[in-house]
Amino acid sequence: MTIDSSDLLKKAENVPTFDDVPWDFPVAWDPGGGESDGRAAVREVVHRYQRHGFAIVQLPRGTTGEHSLAPIAEALRLGAPFVPPLYRLNGNTPPVVSRISAGLNVSTPDATHPSFGRTSGQRLHTDGTLQDIGEIRTTLLLCQSVSRTGGDTRLFNATAAYAGLLATDLPAALALATPGCLVRRATVNGSDDFNAGPAFAVVDDQLVTRYSLTDTDRWEVPDGISADDLWRGTAYLEKCAEDPTLYRELRMAPAQVLVLANARLAHGRTAYTDDPRQPRCMFRTLHEREPSPELTPCP
Ligand SMILES: [Fe+2]
Repeated sequence: MTIDSSDLLKKAENVPTFDDVPWDFPVAWDPGGGESDGRAAVREVVHRYQRHGFAIVQLPRGTTGEHSLAPIAEALRLGAPFVPPLYRLNGNTPPVVSRISAGLNVSTPDATHPSFGRTSGQRLHTDGTLQDIGEIRTTLLLCQSVSRTGGDTRLFNATAAYAGLLATDLPAALALATPGCLVRRATVNGSDDFNAGPAFAVVDDQLVTRYSLTDTDRWEVPDGISADDLWRGTAYLEKCAEDPTLYRELRMAPAQVLVLANARLAHGRTAYTDDPRQPRCMFRTLHEREPSPELTPCP
């Protein structure tokens, strides 16, 4: 299969950057602050999301609960949360908001889920890798309570790293854009579903990724692709994840929400230990849209 390099090169000119991220200044989000304040907050989130690939929102102190995400999704015009089809297998009716908490999910079906039910670290990945590349545009992650130690959120600017590969080693970059090079296999809910897609592509005029390095993902050399090209590309990206201009870790505070461009950045988590009296707890929703300041009606 021949990949159109001109489209990749053109869209690589517009990727997120971690330059000048206002790390210590989340966007204040106060529902009681009036309409103009609300619109200004939405505009600022959209601006940071487009420029940096993410934004941190600070809700009023004490805001908790899985229902806190819906008003933010509505204000950002993200549409209804997406629930991966494998969670509906075997007649299951999963919640649209996922609870990520090893301490609170002990006696639930999520107790063995590698992210939702364990304190271990998570390697870099994108959410929804069983879906087509670019399908899950946005992840919302609400921090309700923090861990005693660890549990930092890892952010890797995968599309900016890939833009560097395109500029320096085109054959390696094209190997990573070839369908079948990145295989994700499901391991939850009895599903054996899998998706063998590219790691990078242009979708809807945007360079997007499904870069993922977890235990359920693996690289494969597609037909017609040189193994050397593919392994040079994967090694380049792993090296980029040591570069502080492309990789950062941040510790979210209670009542903060990460608005993440899931198709632009990869993310992960460091391992954590809990305070048994108040375990770490995060809530997550997935969305097929990017945030928009446009005042279009929600579906
Ligand atoms: Fe994730």
